[in-house]
Amino acid sequence: MAAFGGEESDSLGAFKLRWERRLSDRTGLARAVLWNGQIVGSVIQFELFQKPAVAYWIGREFWGRGIATRALTALLRETPVRPLYARVAKDHLASQKVLENCGFKVSGEDRGFARFRGEEIEELIYQLR
Ligand SMILES: CC(C)(COP(=O)(O)OP(=O)(O)OC[C@H]1O[C@@H](n2cnc3c(N)ncnc32)[C@H](O)[C@@H]1OP(=O)(O)O)[C@@H](O)C(=O)NCCC(=O)NCCS
Repeated sequence: MAAFGGEESDSLGAFKLRWERRLSDRTGLARAVLWNGQIVGSVIQFELFQKPAVAYWIGREFWGRGIATRALTALLRETPVRPLYARVAKDHLASQKVLENCGFKVSGEDRGFARFRGEEIEELIYQLR
């Protein structure tokens, strides 16, 4: 489903390195998502193309329970940074729904190389004012 990013899925070493960088990045936020006391995913605020952006990842067995929407809502309460951006593949309807549930609106379109898809794809740029 996700098109962009993904270096951390190459190996456990790459995953740890990516997260060490995220956790020491004082310009952003990185939060574990807990569901009934269990870690089920992550939600982050980070710099993307020199703009503050958000991203989220929920374990497959926990999809469809509103967890990403609640996790992003919680992150948005924690960070005062606005506007915030997100980039989503045009065909990734679930992620678009999460952003729209949280008040993001489409502010533009772009094309970019999607590492997970191995090709350039169309993407939507979302903004939260
Ligand atoms: C995208 C992702 C975060 C969604 O997590 P989730 O916890 O299932 O999301 P939620 O349950 O909060 O909301 C999903 C919404 O999308 C809708 N949805 C799910 N699949 C859909 C589809 N194929 N078409 C349209 N809508 C869809 C759900 O009905 C729900 O809508 P609702 O809020 O009106 O009920 C999760 O699938 C994921 O982690 N995917 C892999 C990583 C990823 O893609 N991250 C985002 C990169 S941009």
